[in-house]
Amino acid sequence: DTSMASNVFQQEHYVSRDRRAKVTGGGGFRGCTVWLTGFSGAGKTTIAFGLEEYLVSAGVPAYSLDGDNIRTGLNKNLGFSQADREENIRRISEVAKLFADGGIVCITAFISPFRQDRDKARRLHEEAGLKFYEIFVDAPLEVCETRDVKGLYRKAREGLIKGFTGIDSAYEPPMRPDLTVQTAACGVRQSVLAVVDLLDREGLLP
Ligand code: PPS
Ligand code: ADP
Ligand code: MG
Repeated sequence: DTSMASNVFQQEHYVSRDRRAKVTGGGGFRGCTVWLTGFSGAGKTTIAFGLEEYLVSAGVPAYSLDGDNIRTGLNKNLGFSQADREENIRRISEVAKLFADGGIVCITAFISPFRQDRDKARRLHEEAGLKFYEIFVDAPLEVCETRDVKGLYRKAREGLIKGFTGIDSAYEPPMRPDLTVQTAACGVRQSVLAVVDLLDREGLLP
C-alpha cells in the first residue's frame, strides 16, 4: 500500500553493488535471496542453517531469517491468521531484499503457505534486479507429523492450536519452484548440497 508513502522520496545510495561486493567478499556481487517454503517440520530451519554454515565457511556472506526467531522480534505483533501470515511474509520479503541488496545471500525459512505472497516476494526482488530462488522443502504431512520436532502437530490434533498449517490451515505448494528438496528421501547433508549445487550452477559460489 503506497498511499501512506505519498510524500516520501526514494533516495539513491552513493555506493554501487559492485563496490559493495569488493568489501563483502571478492569475485563480484552475490547478493540474492534463497526462499525456503514448506510445512512445519519439513526441514526449512535445518537446511537454512546448514546452507548458511556452508556458505560462510566458503567465504560467502550469508544470513538466515527464521520464522521462529523473527516472530519473537520484528514480527512479534503478528499471529497466524491469513492476514498476519501475509504481513509476516511481506515484511520478510522487504528485509530479505535489503540483505540481498547489501551483497549477502539471504536465506529465509518461513512456511510462507500462500503462493501469492511468495510470488510477491519474487517480484519485489526481480524489480530490484536481485536473484530470487524459491526452494520447495517437500515432505509429506505424515512425515512432518511423525517427526513432530516441537510437539506442535500433537497440540494441533488435540485442538490446543487452531489454524495449524496442514491440519486446519492451507498450504499451497509452489507450481514452478527453482528446486524441490524431498527431505523424507534424503539426509540433511544431501539436502543442503542440493541447494549449494543450484547456487553453484548460478555462478554464486567462489
Ligand atoms: S508463516 O505461515 O510463514 O507466517 O509462518 P512462520 O513465520 O514460518 O512461522 C511458523 C512457525 O511458527 C510455529 N507455529 C505455527 N506454524 C504453523 N501454523 C501455526 N498455527 C503455528 N503456530 C506456531 C512453528 O514453530 C513454525 O515453525 P516451523 O519452523 O515451520 O516449524
Ligand atoms: P522446519 O523448520 O521446516 O519446521 P526443522 O528443520 O525444524 O523443520 O525440522 C526438520 C527435522 O527433520 C529435523 O529434525 C531434521 O533433522 C529432520 N530431517 C531429516 N531429514 C532431513 C533432510 N533431508 N533435510 C532437512 N531436515 C531433515
Ligand atoms: Mg523452522
